[in-house]
Amino acid sequence: MAYRLALRPETFLCVPQPSGRRNARSYRARMACDRVDAPKRPFTPPREVHVQVTHSMPPQKIEIFKSLENWAENNILVHLKSVEKCWQPQDFLPQPSSEGFYEEVKELRERSKEIPDDYFVCLIGDMITEEALPTYQTMLNTLDGVRDETGASLSSWAIWTRAWTAEENRHGDLLNKYLYLSGRVDMKQIEKTIQYLIGSGMDPRTENNPFLGFIYTSFQERATFISHGNTARLAKEHGDLKLAQICGTIASDEKRHETAYTKIVDKLFEIDPNGMVLAFADMMKKKISMPAHLMYDGRDDNLFEHFSAVTQRLGIYTAKDYADILEFLVTRWKVGELTDLSGKGNRAQDFLCTLAPRIRRLEERAQGKAKKAPTIPFSWIYDRQVQL
Ligand SMILES: [Fe+2]
Ligand SMILES: [Fe+2]
Repeated sequence: MAYRLALRPETFLCVPQPSGRRNARSYRARMACDRVDAPKRPFTPPREVHVQVTHSMPPQKIEIFKSLENWAENNILVHLKSVEKCWQPQDFLPQPSSEGFYEEVKELRERSKEIPDDYFVCLIGDMITEEALPTYQTMLNTLDGVRDETGASLSSWAIWTRAWTAEENRHGDLLNKYLYLSGRVDMKQIEKTIQYLIGSGMDPRTENNPFLGFIYTSFQERATFISHGNTARLAKEHGDLKLAQICGTIASDEKRHETAYTKIVDKLFEIDPNGMVLAFADMMKKKISMPAHLMYDGRDDNLFEHFSAVTQRLGIYTAKDYADILEFLVTRWKVGELTDLSGKGNRAQDFLCTLAPRIRRLEERAQGKAKKAPTIPFSWIYDRQVQL
């Protein structure tokens, strides 16, 4: 259906898969859509993941990250905020120890009554995405050369990852408590979805490779900055200024994190432009999967697609945003200006510099053909019907 196509701006890159040999990297590039079924177990939903490729960065390149320890301390850790200066969820929520607690909760619930169900579906999906934070810390710790080797490693990379996680942890906490207090949502269904999602993990296809991993995190932090920014804008339009402030505050954290990750990629482009342009093209050919793409609530096998359809329709996160982020990063990393690339590097450069307009054209065509999307029940809001 057209609305589904619009969610997957990268679909046109898929090619049929041959069978047989599965390891060579050049071969892997042609297998962008090669997927395998993960076994169904009571603690994970039915799902597909890609053929798993591991440790694709040549071991000698690990040295790059060791040599950047001091650079990361001076250039990346500075983007963390001291805990004492950070906002905390409690700053935006009714104070349970105060006399006025019940009154404040009542006001919160009055404000949230004005907000439509489709907006709540988006906010819940965003909250669930944030709540699967253990998966994202795990993902960062899969990356060779930058992982936290001990759990309390003193390397700059490990310090960043732990403190980043600690900052991010406030996002899910705050949205979760807000949604709980609103009284509008089925918390048990939401909690089940979070449990399923953490159990499922994610399939970002970053191959333990920090070149790929930091492109992924740069893209994702910008994507979350955009989507929380849009939920803030819409909350304001629906008259809930407190919720707008909550979403806007989270968006500004995401922006700061985006700055840090894009700076790491800047540096890697400086050190190894050919390796980075290949890595960037590789990630875009494989498509940037959303962190919560394996979402499941115990009922809807296509929950993530349905949630994404609503975010697309409301303009919270769209195929156009995907193309805009790509274009932003191509400009930010000056991909078009790179010189002295290998033949493959030149092809990757061309691919990246022409991809955003191609995605946009596809999106416009899909929008032109789009039929009225169906309405389906979402368990998160007691099976109330929402249009996709
Ligand atoms: Fe976040
Ligand atoms: Fe983030």
